[in-house]
Amino acid sequence: MDGNGRWAKQRGLPRLKGHEQGAESVRAVLRAARQAGVKYLTLYAFSTENWIRPKDEVEGLMNLLGVFMDRYEGEILKNKIRLRVMGQIERLPENLQKKLSKLMEKSAKDYEYTLIVALSYGSRLEIAEAAKAIARKAASGELDPETVNEETVAQHLYLPDVPDPELMIRTSGELRLSNFLLWQLSYAELYVTDVFWPDFREEQFFQALEAFNQRGRRYGGVVTQ
Ligand code: FPP
Repeated sequence: MDGNGRWAKQRGLPRLKGHEQGAESVRAVLRAARQAGVKYLTLYAFSTENWIRPKDEVEGLMNLLGVFMDRYEGEILKNKIRLRVMGQIERLPENLQKKLSKLMEKSAKDYEYTLIVALSYGSRLEIAEAAKAIARKAASGELDPETVNEETVAQHLYLPDVPDPELMIRTSGELRLSNFLLWQLSYAELYVTDVFWPDFREEQFFQALEAFNQRGRRYGGVVTQ
């Protein structure tokens, strides 16, 4: 969800205003994704690297996430969206952790769509943690190291039951993966747009889906469409 800061700067506004408008884009994209029948949507809201941003911005973002959960809880539940999170959740402010836990529990009862928010997330860390968990099992004899394969690693990531993303959208023209879902994105189609995240709404999301639909996906094989 890149470009919130630049969006604000262009308008002479504080960066946090960009994040606030970005939260409106989250709502718009959630609506569009539901309309299009997208079952899983993962948003990279805060990376492990983002902690080094100015204290005010970090606090403002954490606050904004809490406000979002409070304000749109009804909308999330009504639309049968299940909230899940991935990352170092224990590093988040305690009140935000509580809000997230409550909504995760409530929204898990009856859902059709899944919204995953990556918070204090880093993909290398996720993979390292998976390696640690596998090593522990091997050391205790629970698992034979010779049987470790791709499936074993995938099963030890944060959300092993979530399918790999088919499409990765990056806004504001950045051409990097920035430590996001490195394992899971192996076969994903990449879509980059120059639009800043606060301006990325329904129309832009449908354009991304349209571009995705034009691609011939091969998974290393030959083109079939
Ligand atoms: C990156 O833009 C954006 C972020 C670090 C924060 C994204 C968070 C939100 C949009 C808040 C709402 C989220 C949810 C899930 C409700 P940037 O600040 O790096 O922008 P820049 O590259 O232009 O500086």
